[in-house]
Amino acid sequence: MSEFPLAPKSLMFAPMEGITDEHYRNVVMKLYPEWDSYTCDFLRVPNPSPYPKKHLIKHIGQSIYENQKLMAKSIYQILTSPHAYTEKTVSDLSELGIKFLDLNLGCPSKTVCRHEGGSFLLSELDKLKGIIKIIRKHFPDTFTCKIRVGYRDDSLFLDILKLLEDEGVDAITIHARTRDELYKGVAKWDYVKTAVEHTTVPIIGNGDIWTPEDIDKYFEYTGCHSIMLARSALKTPWLARLYKNKEVETTELRIKEIKKYFEHFYSETEKQDFPEASRIKRIKSLCRYLFDDIEEGAALRKKILLAKSFEEQISALENY
Ligand SMILES: Cc1cc2nc3c(=O)[nH]c(=O)nc-3n(C[C@H](O)[C@H](O)[C@H](O)COP(=O)(O)O)c2cc1C
Repeated sequence: MSEFPLAPKSLMFAPMEGITDEHYRNVVMKLYPEWDSYTCDFLRVPNPSPYPKKHLIKHIGQSIYENQKLMAKSIYQILTSPHAYTEKTVSDLSELGIKFLDLNLGCPSKTVCRHEGGSFLLSELDKLKGIIKIIRKHFPDTFTCKIRVGYRDDSLFLDILKLLEDEGVDAITIHARTRDELYKGVAKWDYVKTAVEHTTVPIIGNGDIWTPEDIDKYFEYTGCHSIMLARSALKTPWLARLYKNKEVETTELRIKEIKKYFEHFYSETEKQDFPEASRIKRIKSLCRYLFDDIEEGAALRKKILLAKSFEEQISALENY
């Protein structure tokens, strides 16, 4: 077990497959440095043969790997199963200088679970224990787990927490739903409060925390060490700044921020030599939650989604 390196009340940018790739993290890490950590989406530990080290670096992003300041706030997430090359992969990651590793135990995908990975492991504690032991033995730096409260139901929740604590995990992030709940209903904050009461390991709360007011209430109610945000971080990538600087958001500020966010993202993809069509498409992929709370937001989102050029996307924002 190593000392958990994040200060209490840290705000962590969550891993999101298909979104938090190298380019995305390059933009948010530079534009919104108020987040205390940024996790890459999961690397699936392979089972036919281990990945070469070059591939492990590519997953977190060569440009991030080479930048000490960005690496200091980066978390490397893996997803594995009892049949995969876990020992070799985590040893290689450690040799490459990765200092913070997170194990994905929340992925609900049927394919992943059929191969005994992700949230499936929350239902087979012997298999879970085997994997945690391997990682703990071969990865000496910070090692955390990101869990749901169970697979089919929450009956093993406290056993899972105890197992992770006994095996020396450095912190546990809890997305407070079972795997079978997927995203149904609202994540129940009580699970996080219970975890804080039952374990000495730092607990990171996650699930349906949307605003600075939610963040305050969540810390107060659950007593958790830190908070991880996913969809709200996509909706408001500058949320950590709002919270820490006690800034009040207006629609005007929101539109200004979105414009800046798009411009940085567009120039990041130019550096990477993306074809124009995919640069515009990536901007569209950022729009899922951005306009949810503003008046006529759906119409503005539609204009950006239908735009044929980046200039058209920006002028939709300017003419709002
Ligand atoms: C598009 C998307 C992709 C996700 N990919 C990952 C992932 O790669 N690893 C992971 O641990 N969780 C992943 N998650 C789950 C989130 O990190 C988070 O646990 C969940 O969305 C609940 O938090 P929220 O209410 O703040 O969104 C993903 C969520 C979304 C919406």
